[in-house]
Amino acid sequence: MDFPLHKFDKLDTPFYYYDLNLLRATLGEINDRAAISKNFRVHYAIKANTNPTVLHTIAQAGLGADCVSGGEIMAAVAAGFPAEKIMFAGVGKTDKEINIALDNDILCFNVESVPELEVIDKLAAAKGKCARVALRVNPDVDAHTHTNITTGRAEDKFGIDLKIIDEVVDLVGRLNNVELFGLHFHIGSQILDMNDFVRLCDRINPLISDIEAKGIIIRHINVGGGLGIDYVDPDRHPIPDFAAYFGTFMRHLALKPYQTVHFELGRAVVAQCGTLVSRVVFVKEGMVKKFVIIDAGMNDLIRPALYGAYHKIENLTSKADESEVYDVVGPVCESSDVFGKDVELPVTARGDLIAIRSAGAYGEIMASQYNCRPFPRSVISD
Ligand code: LLP
Repeated sequence: MDFPLHKFDKLDTPFYYYDLNLLRATLGEINDRAAISKNFRVHYAIKANTNPTVLHTIAQAGLGADCVSGGEIMAAVAAGFPAEKIMFAGVGKTDKEINIALDNDILCFNVESVPELEVIDKLAAAKGKCARVALRVNPDVDAHTHTNITTGRAEDKFGIDLKIIDEVVDLVGRLNNVELFGLHFHIGSQILDMNDFVRLCDRINPLISDIEAKGIIIRHINVGGGLGIDYVDPDRHPIPDFAAYFGTFMRHLALKPYQTVHFELGRAVVAQCGTLVSRVVFVKEGMVKKFVIIDAGMNDLIRPALYGAYHKIENLTSKADESEVYDVVGPVCESSDVFGKDVELPVTARGDLIAIRSAGAYGEIMASQYNCRPFPRSVISD
C-alpha cells in the first residue's frame, strides 16, 4: 500500500488511515463476484467499522447493513443505507432498540430466542405492525478460528437450538404480529478454510428440506459473515478471495429459485483498507529486549491484547539499510499493551512513523479512552 507520507508528516499521531480506493475496489469485487447468482444479497456487518466516510462509501456501493444495536441502526440510516436493506441481530435486544427497528421498518430481525420472539410480537402489536423475523439457528459447526470469535458451537450463547427450530417456526405462525422471513446462521469470524462454509451448507440443506416438507416455505437464508483476510501479507492479498467464497455457497447450498441468500460480511470488507499510523516515542534498551514504544496503545487497537491477534508492523520512514528485532509496544500501563513481539524492522528511531496494517476491521470501533487517552482520529485518503 502506498501511504501519502508528505501528508502524514504534518499530522498528529496516532490516527486511522483509510485508503478509499482500496475500499471501493473491494466493494467492486464483492458486487462482481456476488453476481454469480441473482439471488445473492450482500450486507455489511457494520460492527466492524462505523467510521462515517467508510459507512457512506459502503452504502453507496449498494450493500445492505447488518446491525447489532439501536445505535448501529441509527448509524446505518444516517450513512444512507435504506431501511429495507437493514437487518437487526443480537442476543439481547432491548425494548427500546426493538422499537427503533420497528419505527424504521427495517428488513428483518434476526431472532435468537423464544422470549425475544414474544417481545418483538408484543411491541409490533402495540404499533399495529407485523415484524419480519429470521430465526437464528445455532448450527453446532466449529469454525476452527479463535475461540473468542467462534459463534456456532452448541455451547455458544448465540442462536436457537437446532433441535427445537421447527417448534419455533410453528410459534411464529401462531403469533399475529411477526411473520417468518427466513433462517439465519453465523459460525464465526476470520475463516479462511472454505470447508468450514461447506459444513455450514451441509447443515442448512437438510434443515430447510425438513421444514419445507411440512409446507412452510423458507424464502430467505442468511449464512452470516466470517470470511477472513490475510493479516500476514496484506499487500499480497489486499482483496479477499470473494470468488472462492461466493462460489462455495453457489455450489453447496441446495438453492431453490424462490430462495434468496443473504451474506453479512464485516472484516473482509474493511480490514485491509485501514491502517493505524503511529509515531515512535522512544526506543528503549530493556534487559533482554529492545522496545519500540509508540504513541498508539491497546486503547486504539485492542485486537493484539485481546485475542493475541497478529498485525503486520512496518516502519514507514526509516532509511536504514540494517534491521533490528524489537518488541513494538504502546504507552498504556498494562503489560498486554504489545502490538508485536520480536518484530524485524529497519533500525528504528524516535520520530519514525509506524504502520500497523489490516486494522480497518474491529480497530477504530473497538477503541476506548482507557488511561484517559483520547479516541484515535481518522484520516481519509480522498
Ligand atoms: N454476522 C454475525 C451474526 C456476527 O456475529 C458477525 C461478527 C458478523 C456477521 C461479521 O463477521 P465478519 O465477517 O466480520 O467475520 N472483534 C473480533 C471479531 C468479532 C466478530 C463478531 N461477529 C475481531 O476483532 O476479530
